[in-house]
Formats: sequence, C-alpha cells, structure tokens
Amino acid sequence: MSVQRVLTGITTSGTPHLGNYAGAIRPAVAASRQPGVESFYFLADYHALIKTTDPLRVQRSTLEIAATWIAAGLDTDRVWFYRQSDIPEIPELTWLLTCVAGKGLLNRAHAYKAAVDKNTAEGVDPDAGVNMGLYMYPVLMAADILMFKAHSVPVGRDQIQHIEMARDMAGSFNHLYGEHFVLPEAAIDASVATLPGLDGRKMSKSYDNTIPLFAPTAELKRLIFSIVTDSKAPGEPKDADGSALFQLYQAFSTAEETRAMRTAFDEGIAWGEAKQALFEKIEAAVAPMREHYLVLIAEPARIEKHLHEGAAKARAIATPFLGELRRAVGLRNLASVAGEAKAEKAKTAQPQFKQYREADGRFHFKLVDADGRLLLQGEGFASPREAGAVVAALKAGSAFEMKEAALWLAGAQVAMLADGVDEATLCAALGAFAD
Ligand code: TRP
Repeated sequence: MSVQRVLTGITTSGTPHLGNYAGAIRPAVAASRQPGVESFYFLADYHALIKTTDPLRVQRSTLEIAATWIAAGLDTDRVWFYRQSDIPEIPELTWLLTCVAGKGLLNRAHAYKAAVDKNTAEGVDPDAGVNMGLYMYPVLMAADILMFKAHSVPVGRDQIQHIEMARDMAGSFNHLYGEHFVLPEAAIDASVATLPGLDGRKMSKSYDNTIPLFAPTAELKRLIFSIVTDSKAPGEPKDADGSALFQLYQAFSTAEETRAMRTAFDEGIAWGEAKQALFEKIEAAVAPMREHYLVLIAEPARIEKHLHEGAAKARAIATPFLGELRRAVGLRNLASVAGEAKAEKAKTAQPQFKQYREADGRFHFKLVDADGRLLLQGEGFASPREAGAVVAALKAGSAFEMKEAALWLAGAQVAMLADGVDEATLCAALGAFAD
C-alpha cells in the first residue's frame, strides 16, 4: 500500500491564532490536497479536558477550531475530519494500550516530569495537582494515532516524544498479540514557520502574546501596531532577521515581497510604515477566510453535521479495527472460542515478517517460517519506513536478484538468506503472501 496516512489532532482549549494557522493549519490543508495522501485531522477534545475544566471554553473552542479548518479550505469530503469524542473506540483502545504501556515510560513524559520537577523545586508532594489525565495523555494520544494506522504525524517538536511513546506501545502490543499496528513517525517540517508573537517570543497562548486568526479588522490592526520593536528612528537601518514584524511579514508574503521588505528594512523603513504593510498583508490573506468563518460560526448546527459525517467515516475504520483488536487480546464471543483458536493457529502457521529496532538504532526485519525458523535476515535501515518498504515489496512479489546469499532489490542489497536456506525455500515462503 503506497498511500501515506497523515494524522494530526488539535486540542480544543483555545482560539486559533496566526501561529496555529501558519504553522499547522495552512500546511495541513495544503498537504491534504496532495495525491496519494489520506489525511486524518481531528479535534482533540478529550485532550482539552486535561488543560481546562471550563466546559464553555471547550465547547466554544471546538466550534471555533472546526470552523477555522473549514474556512481555511479543508475539503471535508476528501479528508477524515472528526471530533475525538465522537469515536468511542478511541477511549476503548486507550485501555488496551494502557495495559501494554510501561509505567516507567509514562513517568518520563516531558509534561508530567515538568510538573513533578516544579513540585519538587517548591518542596511539595511530587504529584501535587497532577491528575491522571496529564499522566495518561501520551496513551490517549497513541490511541488517536494507532487507531487509524497513521504513518506520519505532523507535530511541533514538543510532541516528538509522544509519537515515540506511541511507537513503543504499538511495538509492545504487536509483539504480544501479532502485527496489528503501524508504527508511526513524527513529521517535523523545517520549512514551516514558527511565528513570533507580539513580544517576539514564540506565538503561544501560554505567553499571552497571540494574534487571533479571525480578530475583527480593527482589532487585528491594533494588535499588529502593538508588536514590540526597538526604538530605531525612521531612516535608521533596521535588522530584518531579528524582527518579529519581519518574520510575520515573511509568513504571509511571496519570496519577492519578502526581499523587497528586507531592502526596506535596510533602508530604514519607519516602524509605523512596516506595521501598516504587515497589517495590509495579513488582512488580505485573512479577510476572505474570516467572512466564511463568521458564516460558519453563526450556524453551529452545520458544523455539527460536518462532524457527524466525519465521525461516521472515521468509525467505518475504527469499529472493525477495534473488533480485530478485541479478538486479538481475548475479548471474544464465547461461542466462537473453538473457531477462533483454529483460525489463530492457521494464522500463525504461516511465514511471517517481523520488524524491529536493534541497539544500533537501525531498523531491521526478518522472515521466519511457520515454525519460527529464520529464513531471511534484513539489513539495518535508517528508518522504519525504508525497512517497511522492502518488506512490502517482498510481500508484493517484486522481482529480486540473488548474489550468493545476498538478496538485492532495486540495485541495493537488502537482506541475507539464513544459513542452510536456499532460494527455492525463500520463494515458497514468499509465495504465502500472494493473494
Ligand atoms: N497533543 C497534541 C498537541 O497538543 C494534540 C494531539 C492529540 C495530537 N492527539 C494527537 C497530535 C494525535 C497528533 C496526533 O499538540
């Protein structure tokens, strides 16, 4: 399967700002239009409950974020766009994963550790004020990702650890119960902008320095004019790279416009003039979306309808998959015990590919026969995706070449036959994957 599944969630605890738009929403909408990509974008409202206990805020934020994605051009027919809490399979999967997640693993989660460190520094109980929602956050997030077999998860750097934890839980589950989950990878796009806020630090709700994406025109103007600058007078050359204003301008301009603005900075453009130019740029980009947004927000029932349709589409995947997982762990129809056991035996009496990571950090695979005997040992690959691609090619019956005991595929040596195994045995085993 060469379709790439991309999945990401947005916690519904705030109002979308320009930083969210340029850093996440705009690139995600663009990515969802690419061929060969299946995009899953969802409103992480269960995660919001960890951040806020204000019900109105959760509700309002869910409406605002849903309307923002649609106003930003997300084609809800083309993607899977849904609300986490509409998918009851997600909390159910969370429990299955909880039972394979190491407590030690979760102890190391950055957000939890930060809370403990702060408490320790303040001399209070290490777990003071920490609820189990915060502690279990990575497990819920793993369920979000693994439920839909996402390959790639675009997130900010602060979330990389969570993706690694999801891989860890997926690996443990697969090891215990068979290959059910795809191991996801974090996708960090260096070309995507991290926008500065009003004070020059990263635009973030926690710094209270944001510009709401759909602030009314007058408010947008007021906020842009309140961006902190140095005290250089008109005519004095200004440093473009150190300027929050310039970075914001760049995020909404073509390369050529950006170059022209850089020249204007060198030539001492007045701050007021630069702010006016920035305001006009952002207003031009935002105004058409804002109009659509206001129409959407005024009709919450229409958004509800979009989300219900999205949930049905997502559950068409989640419900059968959770059924498979329930059977795998033994939550089974009692009347089918004998049949299941037989089917399971038949299933394991097949050659199998296994993928794993070695201590050297590289990703390997091996092919074992029905009795678990090693037939083929893969090379170490830099990423699980590369190892997975070779496995997929072998399963799909791609032509390979043997040079002595080495197996070559598309010009590269990818695996070695195990001792005492010949090519005919290998081909017979690979034949089991043909269907
Ligand atoms: N934790 C993410 C954030 O705060 C939001 C999120 C929840 C998420 N579930 C997810 C992101 C699954 C990616 C995949 O940014």
